[in-house]
Amino acid sequence: MSAAMIRSERCGQVALVRLASDNPLNPLTDALMDQLIDVLLRNETDPQVHATVLTGSDKAFAAGADIVAMSKLDYASAFSDDYIGRSWDRIRTARKPLIAAVGGYALGGGCELAMMCDIVIAADDAVFGQPEIKLGIVPGAGGTQRLPRAVGKSTAMLACLTGEPLSASEALAYGLVSKVVARKRLIEEAIRVGEQIARHSLPVIVAIKEAVNRAFESSLSEGLLFERRLFHAGFSFADQKEGMAAFLERRQAAFQNR
Ligand code: CAA
Repeated sequence: MSAAMIRSERCGQVALVRLASDNPLNPLTDALMDQLIDVLLRNETDPQVHATVLTGSDKAFAAGADIVAMSKLDYASAFSDDYIGRSWDRIRTARKPLIAAVGGYALGGGCELAMMCDIVIAADDAVFGQPEIKLGIVPGAGGTQRLPRAVGKSTAMLACLTGEPLSASEALAYGLVSKVVARKRLIEEAIRVGEQIARHSLPVIVAIKEAVNRAFESSLSEGLLFERRLFHAGFSFADQKEGMAAFLERRQAAFQNR
């Protein structure tokens, strides 16, 4: 069994999950990713967890997939083992919100892991990039697909084709991250956002995440129809009754997550 490379703690209804490899650059080895996915999927079944903050070390969110392992890969084993796909794609199955709190390097698979999250909050020292071209490879965990959706074609092409990094302020200007905070406030701010989400009704949180993600997977008409169906279905929830009653009675809603 491999050593623990993930540290997880609870801050109320928010899980704080840290990548904590022996190497502070957090190379995303298969073992680390397997452990990360186990923790994230365990949070999915924990009714007390409404949102997860994912962060790294003082030096890096993550410096990418494991170059040592990849240097020995051949096509047959990459294909047969579904390298990257086998484990990383399971992060997409998380229905509860994932908030990436990125300090230091988020390169290659590290940038891709951040982009798999629903919200990205960056420290002022964060560095994002897809440097795979410098290693003679194509990004393999969504860099060429999620980066253009986040920042547009020209900036994504520039980043992927030159391999040159984006600073936190550039990432903010391009829309890759939602906000930039001082390094010492990174975790506090990510948890604050997590708590702001977590105090709401869990099924509504999950439905909103599904609906926003649908915007990237469907035509506008299909997405609008999907949203309207969820909107109508919401009237079957006790929390809709409670939320509206609380508004009208000028009190805080006490959601029961059903
Ligand atoms: N995988 C494996 N080991 C890594 C690594 C990675 N992604 N990144 C860094 N390391 C290792 C280094 O080899 C070095 O190991 P040793 O101490 O045994 O020599 C150690 O971490 C420290 O690294 P540096 O000395 O390079 O540290 P630095 O502070 O000078 O530089 C850095 C930091 C700029 C992040 C630099 O390490 C770097 O450029 N790393 C590689 C980034 C990269 O190319 N990422 C993309 C990987 S490919 C990918 O992710 C594919 C995909 O899309 C899924």
